[in-house]
Amino acid sequence: MADRLAVTFTGLRFPNPFLLSSAPPTESDANIMRAFDAGWGGVVTKTIGLHPVVNVDGPKTKFLRAHPDGQMSMKKRDGSALHSSWNWELISDKALDWWVPRISKIKKAYPDRILVASIMAGSGSDRELEHWQTLAKACQDEGADAFELNLSCPHMDRKDMGSNIGKDQEQISIVTQVVKDVARVPVWAKLTPSTTDIVVEARGAFLGGADAIVSSNTFPSIPLIDPESLEFEMNVDGLVSSGGLGGPAILPQSLAKMAQMTQAFPDGAFSGIGGVSNFGQALSYVLLGCGTVQVCTAAMLDHAIGPNIIKGLLQGLEEFLDRHADKGWKALEDFRGLRRDRVVTHSHIRRPAAKDYHGGHEAAEGYASSRA
Ligand SMILES: Cc1cc2nc3c(=O)[nH]c(=O)nc-3n(C[C@H](O)[C@H](O)[C@H](O)COP(=O)(O)O)c2cc1C
Repeated sequence: MADRLAVTFTGLRFPNPFLLSSAPPTESDANIMRAFDAGWGGVVTKTIGLHPVVNVDGPKTKFLRAHPDGQMSMKKRDGSALHSSWNWELISDKALDWWVPRISKIKKAYPDRILVASIMAGSGSDRELEHWQTLAKACQDEGADAFELNLSCPHMDRKDMGSNIGKDQEQISIVTQVVKDVARVPVWAKLTPSTTDIVVEARGAFLGGADAIVSSNTFPSIPLIDPESLEFEMNVDGLVSSGGLGGPAILPQSLAKMAQMTQAFPDGAFSGIGGVSNFGQALSYVLLGCGTVQVCTAAMLDHAIGPNIIKGLLQGLEEFLDRHADKGWKALEDFRGLRRDRVVTHSHIRRPAAKDYHGGHEAAEGYASSRA
């Protein structure tokens, strides 16, 4: 693998900037090692916790497709295009004891690849906070290169877990600090996109000592109702609950969240996720300032771990560097963040008659008065 594809992110040397995100593609040692064989520079394990996990009695993930006639459905039809993934899968149903020997096995077999342990516990008591430290210590002792704190799982009923913590900047700071207290490796915070101003939560993570912010986890959503059966397209006994949307549909929304954060913290480290299946899409995250990019849905649909996706990403980056060699770009760092400052407030966008425009603040530019 060409060295020019390598990046350094939160002090870690990655052979390339592309990672499989925490999800089914990374739920086992077998999958993770296949992913490294396929060429992924890093992998984030499926989130590891200490509480017993029991998933719903039915499919955990399905894919929503846009049909040529304008319908959208989880039913696959000729000519349909992927719109999104929808899931209500919980974190890993394997115990920490199951993961521990596998982390060291993977690291011994692939010492040059980056293995990030995604971890999650609660925050409602000292005991819960200690769980974060138990998880962190166990994973780093086995060779995990970094932690990703899951502050973003969108389908937790517990108020002190997942995206419920991720909506509270103080809880984010506390949890990050608690893990930082024991961590000998970088700590990344994976935030939920489901808040009003993600800059607030990112600030909380950085204040707690986070080395990087990761975004986005899936967006809260529910499946569509089938117009024939009048049932939700995915349900158990006719019931649904809020799950997470990933894949192409979330790319523009996730980019918007990322743009807010990379502008607010231009020196911060960011890992972009959401809707990436090819290099052009990954490039948008990099041009906004991300140093690595993660993939889930596209990999799930490509032999479970994305061999063709990573091939395309690597080839795309190689070709991009060739194409822009005349600009002196030799590596990702040379163009990272190049478009970060192009996202501006609405009033900064040029108007046809610019001299008559006063930033939308003049009374005359607003709605006409009812008395006029
Ligand atoms: C079935 C499924 C399970 C997931 N499980 C986790 C998880 O355990 N921990 C986590 O941090 N994110 C989890 N995610 C979120 C993904 O890592 C990723 O953030 C999200 O799917 C957006 O990326 P994408 O558009 O490439 O799918 C899961 C996503 C899916 C589809």
